[in-house]
Amino acid sequence: MMLDKDKLSQEKLDQIITAARLMKTGGVVAFPTETVYGLGADVTNATAIRKVYEIKQRPANHPLIVHIGEIALLKSWAQAIPESAWILANHFWPGPLTLILKRSQHIPDYVTGGQDTVGIRVPAHSVALALLHALGPDKAIAAPSANLYGKISPTSAAHVRAALDKKIDMILDGGACTIGLESTIVGFNRDTVSVLRPGGISVSAIESVLNKTVVLCQNTKSATRVSGSLPAHYAPTTPLRLYPTEMIFQTARRLSARNLRSVVITWSDIDLPELNGSNIHHVRLPNKPTSYGKHLYATLHQYDHAAFDYILMETPPELPSWLAITDRLQRASFSHISSTI
Ligand code: TXA
Ligand code: MG
Repeated sequence: MMLDKDKLSQEKLDQIITAARLMKTGGVVAFPTETVYGLGADVTNATAIRKVYEIKQRPANHPLIVHIGEIALLKSWAQAIPESAWILANHFWPGPLTLILKRSQHIPDYVTGGQDTVGIRVPAHSVALALLHALGPDKAIAAPSANLYGKISPTSAAHVRAALDKKIDMILDGGACTIGLESTIVGFNRDTVSVLRPGGISVSAIESVLNKTVVLCQNTKSATRVSGSLPAHYAPTTPLRLYPTEMIFQTARRLSARNLRSVVITWSDIDLPELNGSNIHHVRLPNKPTSYGKHLYATLHQYDHAAFDYILMETPPELPSWLAITDRLQRASFSHISSTI
């Protein structure tokens, strides 16, 4: 596979070598992928993996995704791989797609929370691929998103630094993530292919590659171990609420009258009404789901730390292409839903 190494500076390559060395001796390193930054450790190092769980404050029964450098290595980490998994891997890897497969004997219990399946993907990021290459073909990186459990995933090195700096051995900076939302997670059960977490690759793209219907089961029992499937997740500290277009500014004005400050984040081309006072700040995100998705977490990180009382988000369009965004926003708003405003 092309590693795109030529595009990386000597300085970056040196940092990657250092990161690989740290990981080989049990270090925990944050690294960029095209979706979000990961908190990586050598799959086969129990102590390092335990550190990842501790740093994230993540329950031990929530399995980690295993990142590999190329499709051919899939056979070492998984077994009984269904034909449709190969088709998807060949079509979408490297890319934002995680396949849940029966694990091979090389995957230890502590990576999968004791389950007999493992989530695997090849990330589409030159730094991540070079890091995997530096570790060697017999290694893989187990990595959850590099945020505290339940919080918003990081899409830049600065986000990781703000949340985890002192606790980890190194942060590899690979710039802003191009997708900005976590990978699509796909599971296989006999002839049924299911999307367990919507993400960077759409359900329809998967259906058209497989030429069959795919089940969307974000909240069913089979997804109970997908931590992203807990209702409250990906949440900022500031209460986040979703409002339809016609209600969002009205709500902001009502809050403003009570001297509460809100940031209003929209995507549509609705006209700006008169915003009286300084209690309302309006941010317009792109109206295309790919570019909206790329900027969403960075925007939430930014305004979560800007002393607002509320983050008011315009409800996304009810279209399949917005599914992953709607999913994340609903979870981000879940824990705040009982608070009335
Ligand atoms: O885009 C991504 O997937 C990023 C980057 C770093 O690769 N990773 C990521 O990891 O989002 P994490 O741990 O934050 O979310 C992975 C999800 C978790 O909800 C986990 O429960 C689920 O994948 N998962 C991992 N292995 C699984 C398995 N064997 N069965 C079911 N769910 C699994
Ligand atoms: Mg996560």
